[in-house]
Amino acid sequence: MKICCIGAGYVGGPTMAMIANKCHDIEVAVVDLNEERIAAWNSPSLPIYEPGLQEIVEERRGKNLFFSSEVKKYIKDADVIFISVGTPTKSYGIGAGQAAELGYVEGCARMIAEVCEGPKIVIEKSTVPVRTAEVIKSVFTGYDKGHLFEILSNPEFLAEGTAITDLDNPDRVLIGGDSTETGKKAVQTVVDIYNRWVPRENIITTNVWSSELSKLVANAFLAQRVSSINAISAVCEASGADVDEVANAIGKDSRIGPKFLKSSVGFGGSCFQKDILNLVYLCEHFGLADVAEYWHQVIKINEYQRKRFTRKIIHSLYNTLKGKRIAVLGFAFKKDTNDTRESAAIYICRDFIEEGADIAVYDPQVDAEEIKGLTSEKVEVCGSAAEAVAGAHAVLVLTEWDEFKTLDYTALYESMVKPAHIFDGRNILDLAELEKIGFNAFGIGKA
Ligand code: NAD
Ligand code: UGA
Repeated sequence: MKICCIGAGYVGGPTMAMIANKCHDIEVAVVDLNEERIAAWNSPSLPIYEPGLQEIVEERRGKNLFFSSEVKKYIKDADVIFISVGTPTKSYGIGAGQAAELGYVEGCARMIAEVCEGPKIVIEKSTVPVRTAEVIKSVFTGYDKGHLFEILSNPEFLAEGTAITDLDNPDRVLIGGDSTETGKKAVQTVVDIYNRWVPRENIITTNVWSSELSKLVANAFLAQRVSSINAISAVCEASGADVDEVANAIGKDSRIGPKFLKSSVGFGGSCFQKDILNLVYLCEHFGLADVAEYWHQVIKINEYQRKRFTRKIIHSLYNTLKGKRIAVLGFAFKKDTNDTRESAAIYICRDFIEEGADIAVYDPQVDAEEIKGLTSEKVEVCGSAAEAVAGAHAVLVLTEWDEFKTLDYTALYESMVKPAHIFDGRNILDLAELEKIGFNAFGIGKA
């Protein structure tokens, strides 16, 4: 069997590396129009940082795992084609700011229709609005090749930073397909691939629309938990309760559960915001204005949380940041990834630059040029936490990288302008200990 995955990004790369690793008899090609990205996948320095990824890519690359920019060639040869291209929020025209940009997906469908002559299974791996399979089908029909393709939905649930363990041991795999004979056969083909390492009871099969919608709903529910606890963090600060203690207390209720209750400066990443906006847009499209408003609130609380944190810092620094050095530890949207998409750090740095602050950033994985590009050329990107913090009025911890938990905060304090402030946007530090050192220490949801 030959698999081709269109899109060598955060999903296409790791997902296909895992399939190649588990199924040595399947030839897996990951293709992308971006030649630079493909060159990086074929080099010792992969384009994305993800624990455990390098090892499996090095193990399978050149054997049954290939990265190529010859997109059409591999599409033509494949039996199964995954579409794993971006579906960002549309920035123009109808639905701007909410609807998903489906141009890349449509582009893939057209390419597939143009080059394929024999029957194929085409799988939506990208996160798409419900009923996107209909769009793909209509493109195929337009090329008079509708009969050649079976379209399935197989959304991806991996989280960045834990992609390899998530793929190796997924809570579930979801496959949506038609209930026609050919639809069922195609679903079975994909079930058989995952079943090489995922127990059958963890592979769910549904109709296409349930599968497409479930992906948006899963992200909306996850993001809602973060916004719920973040909303409560404001109540904690006002009342003297401690948000970590509240999260622990409620998370012990097995109906609520302990995961995804970490209060933070706000969720980031490429998907939560765009997928909820997409859900909101769909609800409006279906005339469900109240439902749309309900889910939109999850995003509003996220924006509120970021702004609340920014205001708290400005207020603590005597309402002026002009000429003050602010050290930012962490720029990625979460630990163990080099991804900065929608990272809270972007918004916070921009706000502080506007207030006249001098920003010094340290992140163990994010490229200096990327940080400057997202903020300002004037931002100083440092090679260590100590370098960023020296001479600063305040330190902000914006990503929960493990190394920030074990820094020598006494030495950092000594190198700062006094009074020295520290703002833990991730609640990973012991504020009482920091105060003993001499810091004015602030967390999220701590009075
Ligand atoms: P990405 O931007 O990292 O990668 C997409 C790639 O597709 C890019 O490299 C781009 O060059 C390529 N591409 C676009 N059009 C192409 C075409 N016509 N032919 C060949 N290549 C083309 O995106 P990503 O983070 O991997 O996300 C992909 C999809 O998966 C999105 O729909 C996203 O919502 C979903 N998803 C992402 C995650 C995640 O953690 N990042 C998790 C689950 C689902
Ligand atoms: C998320 C989902 O967890 C995946 O299941 C999904 O496949 C993916 O989106 C997607 O569709 O792209 P990801 O965005 O990579 O994965 O990372 P998460 O671990 O979900 O974190 C998202 C953001 O929420 C991060 O900024 C994180 O710091 C924040 N977060 C998470 C919190 O602030 N508190 C928490 O308790 C959990």
